[in-house]
Amino acid sequence: MTYDEIRKLYLGYFEKHGHKVVPSASLIPNDPSLLFTVAGMVPWKDIFLGRAAPEYPRVVDVQKCIRAGGKHNDLDEVGFDGRHHTFFEMLGNWSFGDYFKEEAITMSWDLLTNVLKLDPNRIVVTTHISDDEATAIWKKVAGKDAIRLDKDNWWSAGDTGPCGPCTEMHYDMGNDLPGGLPGSPDEDGGRYVELWNDVFMQYDRDANGNLTPLPKQNVDTGAGLERWAAVLQGKRDNYDTDLFVHLMDAISDVVHVKKDENNIASFKVIADHLRSVGFAIADGVIPSNTDRGYVIRRILRRAMRHGQLLGHKGALLSELYPALVTEMGAAYPELAHEQAHVVEIIRNEENAFADMLQSGMKLLESELPKLQDKMLPGAVAFKLFDTYGFPLDLTQMILRDKGIDVDVAGFEKCMNEQKERSRADTKGTRVLWESRTELPATDDVAKYAPVDNMQSKVLAILKDGEFVETADSGDNVEVALDKTTFYGTQGGQVGDSGELRLGGDVLVNVTEAARANNIVIHKGTVAKTINVGDVVTPVINANVRAQTARAHTATHLLQAALRQVLNTDVEQRGSRVAPDSVRFDFSFGRAMTDDEKTQVENIVNDWIKQDMTVKHEEMGIDEAKSRGAMALFGEKYGDVVRVITAGDVSCELCGGTHVYHTGEIIKAHINKEKSVASGIRRITMSVGNLAE
Ligand code: ALA
Repeated sequence: MTYDEIRKLYLGYFEKHGHKVVPSASLIPNDPSLLFTVAGMVPWKDIFLGRAAPEYPRVVDVQKCIRAGGKHNDLDEVGFDGRHHTFFEMLGNWSFGDYFKEEAITMSWDLLTNVLKLDPNRIVVTTHISDDEATAIWKKVAGKDAIRLDKDNWWSAGDTGPCGPCTEMHYDMGNDLPGGLPGSPDEDGGRYVELWNDVFMQYDRDANGNLTPLPKQNVDTGAGLERWAAVLQGKRDNYDTDLFVHLMDAISDVVHVKKDENNIASFKVIADHLRSVGFAIADGVIPSNTDRGYVIRRILRRAMRHGQLLGHKGALLSELYPALVTEMGAAYPELAHEQAHVVEIIRNEENAFADMLQSGMKLLESELPKLQDKMLPGAVAFKLFDTYGFPLDLTQMILRDKGIDVDVAGFEKCMNEQKERSRADTKGTRVLWESRTELPATDDVAKYAPVDNMQSKVLAILKDGEFVETADSGDNVEVALDKTTFYGTQGGQVGDSGELRLGGDVLVNVTEAARANNIVIHKGTVAKTINVGDVVTPVINANVRAQTARAHTATHLLQAALRQVLNTDVEQRGSRVAPDSVRFDFSFGRAMTDDEKTQVENIVNDWIKQDMTVKHEEMGIDEAKSRGAMALFGEKYGDVVRVITAGDVSCELCGGTHVYHTGEIIKAHINKEKSVASGIRRITMSVGNLAE
């Protein structure tokens, strides 16, 4: 049975038993406690907690999941055996206060043994030590004596939230394999593989570990599709099933190497990582240096290292993505829909890292003969990280085969020292830039309406505290151009990120554009040699730009709503506008009530829904004042000012970037309101996809 057939069969079985078939939710959870959707239940958490009403009492789906960071993390296991994945699909059926233990167990058993015809004697079941009820049901339904376990039969997605006892079904892959029964010391040996977990969601766990019964009793089940495919296709290794065989054939075509027993681990890792990276980016993750963006960047770089082990240089996952679309695009239409965008993002990442990977490996290899005690000094790991973009786990992965560890404490010490230095440096480099009085102010008018293919001359490059003529791959630099499309951090708005390109090549990956007086400085890492005098094309990351613009317009709406709900004396005292997130400080003498916060949030969301036009205009300061444009307390303005007007609710002097219609903001969500100083309150708010 192929993957497509198993998905259909599972959905169809539960549909026949009264379940509504729903599509997979996004890999980006609507839940700040998780980086990714780690299980099928994540999108239903609010329903379990009684915070949202279920649309259907019974639901079935196949959910995309990533376990590669935080509590559920399988990244280090991938490649070493046949059953670990960072990306996988979870088959799941749910009851929201509808059926409970008996029906859940009966259906699981019926599907496994009567429909799929698995040998009942090869199935072993476990229940929680406290769960006499489930244990008795197994005896009655299947004549099975459950093995009763403690921790292994208690399930939760995070440290807090919905949880409960569970019952697992394991399959005996064959008595010639090593490994013991679930719960025995050698349970991970490989003989018994968990096929399905039925969780009885009964409690909400708080931060102190206290369990409160949930308003309703629910069922959450999860079955790894990849394991089902292996069992149903008579394979012992998930990577021998149809989907992976096809992906690995595509890898073979791209790297021009056949898979064999010596290189199979690299094939598995690349196939797995292609799925994580491809699906995550299709769902909107952008590789970056923080949070889930960093998880995806790390996975992508690990895949490239395995490409290198197979003798391949350069682009890998971007070449393989079409094979993923062929294999999984029918079940997940978003893969094809986002194809151009995903391939471009992956290609940019790969271009930026390709040279660094080669140079970093040279450095690492030159260090190995010097090692004592099979331990790589933290300083070397840090240099690999800082100069060559090797995430710590990548270095660890490379060395593990050779039995070498990394001095992690030493690495962290270097990391902290660097943070201190860079805190001091930010001031330091501004002074250096300000000393270059002969440099002209950067022409950045195009920041408001970025043009394609701008031809900009490199005027200066700052590296390690000195101005240089040339910088090479891996160097951390700040670059000044004669003109740019980048918005340099100013007025509380975080600057653009993006690239400086020459022809088809990325020369610099710009992490942030900052400002020193009138000069826009493009800070980032060199991917390919750049020289003073080069003519480059500044290209901003349009996604980040859009996210920042909507956060900025949302800030204006927030201020207007606060003035409506609290009073018209409310004034902005500071703000930080970042991609999809806003921090807004304002004058107000007391804490806001919950009701006031809800009112403000509702007003902002109403304005977003009304999709009001946002006008961006330049005018004389007097005209702006006569229109009643709000100015910032203590700010100086020139004679000609920019005025941003949203419908008839907000009119502010502002130099930032904004959306053109309030609907582009999608949604606003107030996360927190607190005091920051006497008489000053702070609101943090998310907008866009983050708020959703
Ligand atoms: N939520 C359960 C799991 O992930 C089904 O195992």
